[in-house]
Amino acid sequence: MKGKFITFEGPDGAGKTTQMKMLGERLEAMGKKVVYSREPGGTRISEEIRKVLLNPSNIEMVDRTEALLYAAARAQHVEELIRPALEDSKFVLCDRFTDSTVAYQGFGRGIDMDLLNKLNSMATAGIVPDLTIILDIDPALGIRRISEKRVTDSGMEKDRIELEHINFHKKVRDGFLHLAVANPGRCKLVDAKQEMEALANEIYLLVKEVLDK
Ligand SMILES: Nc1ncnc2c1ncn2[C@@H]1O[C@H](COP(=O)(O)OP(=O)(O)O)[C@@H](O)[C@H]1O
Ligand SMILES: [Mg+2]
Repeated sequence: MKGKFITFEGPDGAGKTTQMKMLGERLEAMGKKVVYSREPGGTRISEEIRKVLLNPSNIEMVDRTEALLYAAARAQHVEELIRPALEDSKFVLCDRFTDSTVAYQGFGRGIDMDLLNKLNSMATAGIVPDLTIILDIDPALGIRRISEKRVTDSGMEKDRIELEHINFHKKVRDGFLHLAVANPGRCKLVDAKQEMEALANEIYLLVKEVLDK
């Protein structure tokens, strides 16, 4: 694959969207072609699935339905957007990917890890990120950042996952920490409490290592 695939992971409010944009701007300034995407989403069908997944009215959704819908959205995203962009030598920056499945549906919901890994394999069909930035933050701080944003972006309501109890979000954070230890080559853990510019510099250095490889 000629392009590079970089994913951003971590709890809500960690700064994934912010950092993705900052990194993308640097890469574009270097003349790279950058594609920005997110999960669940990125294609028309995947965005439709996103609406079902995040709709706060869908309180009766069972854990397996949730896991399968995330995987379904990912399979479409990989084939329609990510793989073609990588074959076209682009940089694909993605807000969440397979590690969120392990952290949220595995550590958070308690679904069997072997099953989730198989589901991820089916959804990705061989596409693995070249680099995964895991933004680590106390979930309470992440939630606080998002609530502040909500005051300025009025009308933005909490989604079904954000409405989960803080204990759920703590398990998810532990999941991300575990993933960083288990995949030291691909996953790089960064302290998301830092101010934006410092964090952007740290992330850029990690990306440069991948570029120089
Ligand atoms: N390093 C940071 N320090 C303080 N606030 C931040 C930082 N990074 C992002 N924010 C703010 O926190 C909120 C959530 O950031 P966002 O990038 O949307 O996080 P995520 O995509 O991980 O949910 C936004 O209002 C953003 O401006
Ligand atoms: Mg985001």
